[in-house]
Amino acid sequence: MTQEYIKNLLKDMTLKEKLGEMTQIPTDFLAETNAPAAPGPLTKSKITKEDLIYIGSCYATGAARVRAIQEKHMKEHPHHIPLVFTADIIYSYHTVFPIPLAMSCSFNPALYTLATSVIAKEASADGVQVTFAPMADLVRDPRWGRVMESPGEDPYLNAQMISAAVKGFQGDDPKAPGKLGSCVKHFAAYSASEAGRDYNSVDMSKGTFCEYYLSGYKAAIDAGCKMVMTSFNILDRVPSGANKEVYQDILRDMLKFKGVVISDYAAADETIEHGFSADAMEVAEHYLPNCDIELVGSDYYECAEQLIKEGRLSMEDIDKAVLRILNLKNDLGLFENPYKDADPELVKKLGGCEEHLKAAREVASRSIVLLQNNNKVLPLCKHEHIKIGIAGPFTDTIQALGGWALPEAPVVTLLEGMQRKFPNAEIVTAMTGELGAMQDGIFDVEDCVAEAVERLKDCDIIISAIGEHPLDTGESASRTILRMSDHQEKLVRELHRLGKPTVTLVFSGRPLEIRPLLPYTDAMVQCWFLGVECGNAIADVLSGDWNPSGKLSMSFPQTVGQIPVYYNHYNTGRPAHGKRQRYVSCYLDCPNEPLYPFGFGLSYSEFAFSDFLIKTQGETVKASVTVENVSDIAGTETVQLYIRDVAAQVVRPVKELKGFRQVNLEAHEKATVEFTITRDTLSFIGRDCKPIFEHGDFDIMIGNSSDNVMCERITL
Ligand code: BGC
Repeated sequence: MTQEYIKNLLKDMTLKEKLGEMTQIPTDFLAETNAPAAPGPLTKSKITKEDLIYIGSCYATGAARVRAIQEKHMKEHPHHIPLVFTADIIYSYHTVFPIPLAMSCSFNPALYTLATSVIAKEASADGVQVTFAPMADLVRDPRWGRVMESPGEDPYLNAQMISAAVKGFQGDDPKAPGKLGSCVKHFAAYSASEAGRDYNSVDMSKGTFCEYYLSGYKAAIDAGCKMVMTSFNILDRVPSGANKEVYQDILRDMLKFKGVVISDYAAADETIEHGFSADAMEVAEHYLPNCDIELVGSDYYECAEQLIKEGRLSMEDIDKAVLRILNLKNDLGLFENPYKDADPELVKKLGGCEEHLKAAREVASRSIVLLQNNNKVLPLCKHEHIKIGIAGPFTDTIQALGGWALPEAPVVTLLEGMQRKFPNAEIVTAMTGELGAMQDGIFDVEDCVAEAVERLKDCDIIISAIGEHPLDTGESASRTILRMSDHQEKLVRELHRLGKPTVTLVFSGRPLEIRPLLPYTDAMVQCWFLGVECGNAIADVLSGDWNPSGKLSMSFPQTVGQIPVYYNHYNTGRPAHGKRQRYVSCYLDCPNEPLYPFGFGLSYSEFAFSDFLIKTQGETVKASVTVENVSDIAGTETVQLYIRDVAAQVVRPVKELKGFRQVNLEAHEKATVEFTITRDTLSFIGRDCKPIFEHGDFDIMIGNSSDNVMCERITL
């Protein structure tokens, strides 16, 4: 439709219709004849059955259901304005991919685009029109359960991945078949909640926010993302969605976001609980000028008219928001085709199709990170008649999906994957009971360790498949102890006593405290939650059919007491330089460095870096390095470029990732990798929160992990 049509439509709408557009409620409310009590503030809502016809969007999936709701709605709405259907399509629909924290370990944005385009296709066929994804919140605290939904701790990687995700969801045009509108979240700085406790307060300087946390949201907006979601936290003592500086000055003015803002679930009404809004009237007064749609809540719907009468809100505020919402619907093509791609037959065709599973397997195998491989215990030879022992709750379970996946998705379990990959091997399992019983607030397994040791005692290789329950990660799953549950740790320790080569596979949604287990295992493999192709992808890696290439997108702490621990920290006036002594900045009982840093990950190949060259032409610098695969196994290395601005008007991190490239090298093959460094690469966020370049000294670093780089200083 033309802008003229949309503007005339807006002129013609009543205030009730407009406020309905600005309200989103759960489907059940619309679908059932007698609207049930909905969760959150809708329980106290005065929205009646008669009002439902004005509602502009709802949270729903299911092609047939969506079509039925839309058909009825279109008939009854005074202006026949279509609903828009939203859902949380984060990393999965019928095909479940690895969690985003894992996908980011691929250091391969194209794979993220592949994953999001597959799930967009499946979800749009099932009636979804907008996804509440990607989550661009930068993460430094693994106590926070939602690190699993994030691309990790680095602003550069975050931006690359988030932009790739938006591209996959929306393509060039979200109206196109198989595409969704994308809603980046949670603006702003939701992930920085104090002590990692979900929904807790956030307090950070504007400089830190603009320098680190902003980049993911900005990348989404630059990629054309259609919506932004507010966050539950306060920022600078004001609930984020009610914070004018965050929403007007930063989002609208600085980032030039023109799309629709939606509240997080009931977040507008929660400003009462925060102690910021005194009542529903104040909720609407504070939140509405910043946020166009109230997701779960009816404060706008009930109070805006009175607020306009009292001069506390203007009709202009309402019209601006509604125009954006109508434009969103128009951008999705809903005026012409209100059902978009909803088609039950297409759902059957796409769900679990071969092409999608192939993509899921590829992404999953590239998301796995090899952390330790003593005595080159991996890869295992798939042709020998070996006896493989597998023990632990992740041996044969579908609990490998993470919290935002359909629970009934058809997972290839580790055991199934191993049986297919190692047909000549004898595979024995033990202690395979799932994580279930709660122990001090986290899930544990039944202690069958003695029996497991007995069953696996004559195996040639012993694999422990352990981790955390998917419900121990994700929203509202903060933890203060990041150790594995007692019985799982005991299993690894006791199996090690058998004196056989051992491999530990860790399934988790966050970096766990794995240090206590390292002495008891030869190989340590971080498997995250890998999705439906979990077993196949792990078997690919254990057999060497895929040579592991994942690099950590988030540092692993030595111990919880180090948190937050991240590679791109500032220096101090008293740097420790690796020493532990009084009056320098260090811990007495633990190194400053994480157990495994950002960018770290082993391969079965060995790579040597040489010929690090820097050429300066004016203000453009070319940095190159030769990477040689000095082993007999073909493999993939991720070459990482870091910089440090040695002195500036605000202190600079000791390292900042500014580029990466993946090289696939045959055995003994070499390649030269070159990066171009410009003023942009070397600029930073100055005191006025704007990008600035300053002349001076810079350290240019290239390596294969944030803690393993070659360094040259240049002056510009
Ligand atoms: C989460 C959001 C999600 C929303 C709707 C909230 O609890 O924080 O990430 O999009 O629910 O499901």
